[in-house]
Amino acid sequence: MSNQLKKFIAGLPKAELHLHLEGSLEPKLMFELAKRNQIKIPYKSIAEVKEAYQFTQLQDFLDIYYMGMNVLQTEQDFYDLTEAYLRKVAAENTQHVEVFFDPQGHTERGVKFETAIHGIHNALTEVGKELGVTFKLIMCFLRHLDEASAIKTLNEAEPFKHLLCGVGLDSSELGHPPSKFINVFKMAKQQGYKLVAHAGEEGPADYIIEALDLLKIDRLDHGNRAMENPALVSRLANSKMALTVCPLSNLKLCGVTDMANHPIKKMLEAGLVATVNSDDPSYFGGYMNANFESIAEPLNLSIADLTLLAKNSFTGSFLEQTEIDQYLNKIDQYVANFNA
Ligand code: ADE
Ligand code: ZN
Repeated sequence: MSNQLKKFIAGLPKAELHLHLEGSLEPKLMFELAKRNQIKIPYKSIAEVKEAYQFTQLQDFLDIYYMGMNVLQTEQDFYDLTEAYLRKVAAENTQHVEVFFDPQGHTERGVKFETAIHGIHNALTEVGKELGVTFKLIMCFLRHLDEASAIKTLNEAEPFKHLLCGVGLDSSELGHPPSKFINVFKMAKQQGYKLVAHAGEEGPADYIIEALDLLKIDRLDHGNRAMENPALVSRLANSKMALTVCPLSNLKLCGVTDMANHPIKKMLEAGLVATVNSDDPSYFGGYMNANFESIAEPLNLSIADLTLLAKNSFTGSFLEQTEIDQYLNKIDQYVANFNA
């Protein structure tokens, strides 16, 4: 890729809307936390960890992802994880983040909900302020568990509602359609949460339709397989539904085999509010800039395309309109200066 394009991406003000904090756990920190907490992990070296990150489908990754998060035990661990992520993205000029965490991934193994949320939220507040990164926090329900467990988690979150912006749905998609979670999403909406869900990552376009019709989502995570259904694409475009697309994740999990065939350019051409995100950067090989870079050349993206993707990340965010407008102005200024 040209240095010019790389420089443009690096300086572009952007927001990340699809990031699992547990998926930002770098091998080095994994070893440190394993040692600190005397947790056994099945790797001897960082090289061995990286070697294990070979996936052919979502479940291959999830098995390792849930194992990795075992090292997170104390509030300080969650703080350190979140701080490391924020420092990485701030250095890439990511100015706003809307991040996920998986409470059930922790409560199921005996770590308290409050331990996770306090560690994460304190880091977002303190380190975010230091770095000038604004944030929203979203808790995801694990779809391989039953709806009763999701409802229990929603109830556990009640005392911490003021720290949360939304709820989401993640984990093993195939065989766990959005329809399994109608009641808990209805309850969350009544409580004022924003609603998002992973759909169409591996699952069919019908799962996206369920997420829209049955869960009434405000934003769609992934959504790649919407492209198989032209009527659905029109519906998403007309309703200005934001899609949080994750290029390197799609490549690593074999949703696409060649970035030249990644659907994000066709999404933009179809008028979809597509955004670029890293999903689980430690596992998939890169943070925000690497994700932008991974598609820029193979898809022959122009400065205008990249600018649109960055603008979409703010228009698709859960920020107030006045805040969105400020970020959009920043992007316009950046592009004007860059071209000058
Ligand atoms: N949890 C963490 N990353 C995920 C992904 N890409 N899809 C579903 N669940 C996840
Ligand atoms: Zn995800």
